[in-house]
Amino acid sequence: MIPKTRLVILFSLIFILPALTSFTQDIIDPYHYVLNKEVQCRNGAVVSAHPLASQAGLAILKKGGNAIDAAIATQLVLAVVYPGAGNLGGGGFMVATLADGKKIALDFREKAPERATKNMYLDANGNAQPDLSQNGHLSSGVPGTVAGIFTELKYARLPFKKLIQPAINLAEKGFVITESEAMSLNAEQENFKKYNSVVPVFVKSPAWKKGDTLIQKDLAKTLKLIRDSGAKGFYEGETARLIVEEMQRGKGLISYDDLKNYSAKERDAVVFGYKGSYTIVTMPLPSSGGILLPQMMRMIEDQPLKSYGFQSVKAVHLMTEVERLAYADRAKYLGDRDFYKVPVKSLISYPYLYQRMELYKQDTAGSSDSIRAGNLAESEETTHLNVYDSFGNAVSITTTLNGGYGSRTVVAGAGFLMNNEMDDFSIKPGVPNMYGALGAEANAIAPGKRMLSSMTPTIVLKNEQPYLIIGTPGGTTIISSVFQTLVNILEFNMSPSDAVNKPKFHHQWQPDILYVEKEFPENIRTELQKMGYTISQRGPIGRTELIQILPEGKIIAVGDHRGDDTAVGY
Ligand code: DON
Repeated sequence: MIPKTRLVILFSLIFILPALTSFTQDIIDPYHYVLNKEVQCRNGAVVSAHPLASQAGLAILKKGGNAIDAAIATQLVLAVVYPGAGNLGGGGFMVATLADGKKIALDFREKAPERATKNMYLDANGNAQPDLSQNGHLSSGVPGTVAGIFTELKYARLPFKKLIQPAINLAEKGFVITESEAMSLNAEQENFKKYNSVVPVFVKSPAWKKGDTLIQKDLAKTLKLIRDSGAKGFYEGETARLIVEEMQRGKGLISYDDLKNYSAKERDAVVFGYKGSYTIVTMPLPSSGGILLPQMMRMIEDQPLKSYGFQSVKAVHLMTEVERLAYADRAKYLGDRDFYKVPVKSLISYPYLYQRMELYKQDTAGSSDSIRAGNLAESEETTHLNVYDSFGNAVSITTTLNGGYGSRTVVAGAGFLMNNEMDDFSIKPGVPNMYGALGAEANAIAPGKRMLSSMTPTIVLKNEQPYLIIGTPGGTTIISSVFQTLVNILEFNMSPSDAVNKPKFHHQWQPDILYVEKEFPENIRTELQKMGYTISQRGPIGRTELIQILPEGKIIAVGDHRGDDTAVGY
């Protein structure tokens, strides 16, 4: 007979040790974590704006969850560890391609409250008051994120309780913050005080520093209500009461009915071919990316871009002019299609785009004063995450509060920040929003309408299999970043890391300025200036997350070096 102690040891070796090892591998240590910019693996990968969020997603993949499960866990952890953009009080979009071929475009964009009016941000003299559309209670649209998550859940495999638990733990027990988080929180201290009557946890003296622990008890309570009651735990009951009471403290408009009536919408993904080999799947309106990306890709499709070379004067000139033409149409034609008739088919049709390209002059900069939207008669803060799983499902989600920390108003007692997405409407024709974008009637405010977005979660298929999963924050620069990263790979054969990290540029028609990142080469700037461009150096353009899946099964995930972004995989 085997002695009892030996049996115990044997049992431990067979059952407990392996379980412990895999447990410790999957455990998220909120006090020790590192940034990781690139991973190469074969089973699955997650890339997001924060290491803890990426790790939460990876742990779910390893437990047998699919890419949707992992994306939900990642998204919820971002709402805790990346309060500047991860959110419960904002909205976003998901594009996914499932292993069975299904293509999903999920819209959980915020909506204007029922009491919103077209001129709500104009004073008695008709002057725009961007301060009100950008800050505090009145700047918030009805949040869509939680409704989005429960619509995503239709495609998940694991129980929701498992997916939300890492977020609850991190909110309840806290986690240490990164240097960049400390800096951003410190930069907002005055705004947090100004736009809240109940002091939120983000206010701290002495200042935040790297390694401080951020504990969010109220947020943990809200997450538990969502865990126990589903979407109703947010849109009804206690959380709804706290949101409405918060709105009342600051003259905000969101009501119980606005919350109860909010629903996310599954829309038809925008699907278009590129050069015969690729199928690009992206988000339709109210994302302008779903119009501008096909426009831009189609305008360059038959141009000899590859022979011009990466960031050559000719390539930058061509791509800038293409951006100018596309953004001019954005300002005039684009808005929520549920409310305004947008000539979508014409805008992305080859004949129209060829006609637009007649305005492109090979040797000189175009001028935004003479180049306007085409004639058609027809009936900084956001965050992105990508997941790819071993089943072949691909998920790309961009979600936002709009500006960093949104309206800066925290729902007292509920612990989450509200968005300032109302500023993405055109508050008055000719008045730029916080990203300098102009808009018109198509994007005017109306009750229940969704404000136009630039978020462009995108998946590129090659031979109908996922090849690239991509997206980024960056306001209006989002579409330029996605466009340039795709061109870097599809035309210039760059590695995923180079495609993401090489300096970017951006032109959005108005203002008529070519924006470049600091690292953009001096000699090319000089040449472009000679061609007539006004060039302005600006801060980082985008924080692009990318996963590339090679035909033989290798997965390369890359997080942008412009932030705390982290890629993990197994
Ligand atoms: O939906 C949009 O286009 C904007 N609200 C996105 C804002 C954003 O990307 C800020 N990020 N840095």
